Amino acid sequence: MKQASPTLPLLRPFLKWPGGKFRLVKTLQSYLPEVSCLVEPFVGAGALFLNSAYSQMILNDINADLINLYRQLQTGSEKFIADAKKMFVSRNNQPKAYYRWRDIFNQSCDPMERSLLFLYLNRHGYNGLCRYNAKGGFNVPFGDYSRPYFPQKELEAFTEHSQKAIFHCQDYTTLLNQFLKSAKLNHMVFYCDPPYAPLTHTANFTGYAQQRFTLEDQKKLAKIAKSLARKGATVIISNHDTPFTREIYRGAKLQQLEVSRTISCQGKTRRKVTEIIACY
Ligand SMILES: C[S@@+](CC[C@H](N)C(=O)[O-])C[C@H]1O[C@@H](n2cnc3c(N)ncnc32)[C@H](O)[C@@H]1O
Repeated sequence: MKQASPTLPLLRPFLKWPGGKFRLVKTLQSYLPEVSCLVEPFVGAGALFLNSAYSQMILNDINADLINLYRQLQTGSEKFIADAKKMFVSRNNQPKAYYRWRDIFNQSCDPMERSLLFLYLNRHGYNGLCRYNAKGGFNVPFGDYSRPYFPQKELEAFTEHSQKAIFHCQDYTTLLNQFLKSAKLNHMVFYCDPPYAPLTHTANFTGYAQQRFTLEDQKKLAKIAKSLARKGATVIISNHDTPFTREIYRGAKLQQLEVSRTISCQGKTRRKVTEIIACY
């Protein structure tokens, strides 16, 4: 079965995540075939996986803090959720406290402590951004929200849904090249939601992890997608709709999305951008 439950409301990710695809879930679901295994090489906050029901789900992201948090939740969610909730109090919603917890996070090597603080930082930091400096330090400023939401029911839903998932933390090429070794991939669907290709030379936010996602990466992903499809897999890629993405996805079935979002460009102006889905 490809959809978790067509009649129930959609499950929302518990993280705020740049480029999150919650608003596209219904559209993406219409591309999902009835197969047994879903692979997401760029899972992020997991909007699609949360609203799919495959007997096998392989979820990957290069962001080690993200995958560590998912693994903590998968194995010990009740205590994790209770401990995380204790962080969401008014005394922690002040710049001084935020920057102190951010320092503690940046110095911590303890997986449990890092995962609790990662969730706290995601909801108390500016705009849910996830950005690291060259030394790997999380450097998002304080968000200054009046009362950050504690996503209790979203965390519980994630835990329940993630029981069947296998999490990986690798570069997408390492993950996808492993599948290319198989002779047939008819039972698999790959949903690839890479960091957006830039709309202009300057508008290129790709700072989810320390590494940057280059134009070469975008091309390499399109090439791997073709190879996976040749072995029988369904491959879906979402991205900005630009001459560059149209060129690299040539040969795939393309859908320009009616949904558009506004982005900041050149200081204070905002403009609409369109996105495409490429299906191999
Ligand atoms: C657009 S977001 C995915 C959003 C996700 N679909 C959602 O709904 O939340 C892109 C993700 O790719 C991850 N990423 C960036 N470079 C990567 C790489 N080389 N390999 C694997 N994941 C990468 C980022 O950490 C980020 O979570």
